[in-house]
Amino acid sequence: MRQNDVFILSIESSCDDTAAAVLHNDKVLSNVVANQSIHNEYGGVVPELASRAHQQNIVPVIDTALKRANIDRSQLSCIAFTQGPGLMGSLLVGSSFAKSLALALEVPLIAINHMQAHILAHFIDEEGFDKPRFPFLALTISGGHTQIVRVDSYFDMEIIGETTDDAVGEAFDKSAKILGLPYPGGPLVDKYAQQGNPMAFRFTKPKVPGLNFSFSGLKTAILYFIQKNKAKNPNFVEENRDDICASIQHTIIEILMDKMKTAVLQTGITQVAIGGGVSANSGIRKAMKDAERDLGWKTFVPKFEYTTDNAAMIGIAGYHKFLDGSFEDASVVSKARIEF
Ligand code: KG4
Ligand code: ZN
Repeated sequence: MRQNDVFILSIESSCDDTAAAVLHNDKVLSNVVANQSIHNEYGGVVPELASRAHQQNIVPVIDTALKRANIDRSQLSCIAFTQGPGLMGSLLVGSSFAKSLALALEVPLIAINHMQAHILAHFIDEEGFDKPRFPFLALTISGGHTQIVRVDSYFDMEIIGETTDDAVGEAFDKSAKILGLPYPGGPLVDKYAQQGNPMAFRFTKPKVPGLNFSFSGLKTAILYFIQKNKAKNPNFVEENRDDICASIQHTIIEILMDKMKTAVLQTGITQVAIGGGVSANSGIRKAMKDAERDLGWKTFVPKFEYTTDNAAMIGIAGYHKFLDGSFEDASVVSKARIEF
């Protein structure tokens, strides 16, 4: 096998999206995601339902990924899968499938850390998207994590700041719930925020030392603010929805950017990348562009389809592990929690 002809099938099943992708080296040939709408009516992800839906989706999703890539499974060089972090029942569906397939095809099996993959998505070869150079800082913002990571090489990463309570995605989703919006509320807050005035309402920002974050106080402040105003005017939320969303989003983005400014000052690293579901947010994407202009940073914002959970990011991480010869045997275990 020539190293310039690596075909990777990657599988992501850590939470509520069943995803598969095929890469040729660092280029994405197909990227398929099946979202699980079943959780919407419960206001959050129900682990048991997620793993059952993964079992139903995984075969058709992988078949579709191979078909769209026009690749036969006999051409595959390796299988990469998400080892963790995530929901155990969900992770097991992807890892069992990856193990069986790697065994049947007699190709290497590669285990990937989901949070590292969110960062490595920046190394997918895409027209119009530059790749960061090492070292750089990454702000990983998702439904389960909020981390500032110093990235020294593909797999040499150090968490230098993280949330002490809620993740930023949870802050968006829980605020949305308080406003009566369905789960996951993050994208809806973003949508309404774009029509609202970010200065309409003020929420106090938490005072957390160093590079760590806290979002639970903000959630409580929003809850009390809404309750107080609804007591005076029952239609307060309906009449002010866009301004409330814009103000919440503005506060969250300010919290994130304040910490990134401190991280840049502390490390002297001015290349900054964002990744994870919340990097789809229009406010943080604009803040990154503004930082390029106003602060002289070089910023990296992922292509939209690589922001929320996807398998292409698992594939690019798998490609670099393939080049390193970093393989696993079938005894590798899924991990709900996993360090870098
Ligand atoms: O990375 P991801 O798809 O899954 C996890 O690994 O958690 O992130 C999902 C999170 C959810 O909290 C969702 O509300 C949030 O990302 N999210 C957004 C936006 N799109 C997704 N939050 C704010 N604005 C968005 N446009
Ligand atoms: Zn994620």
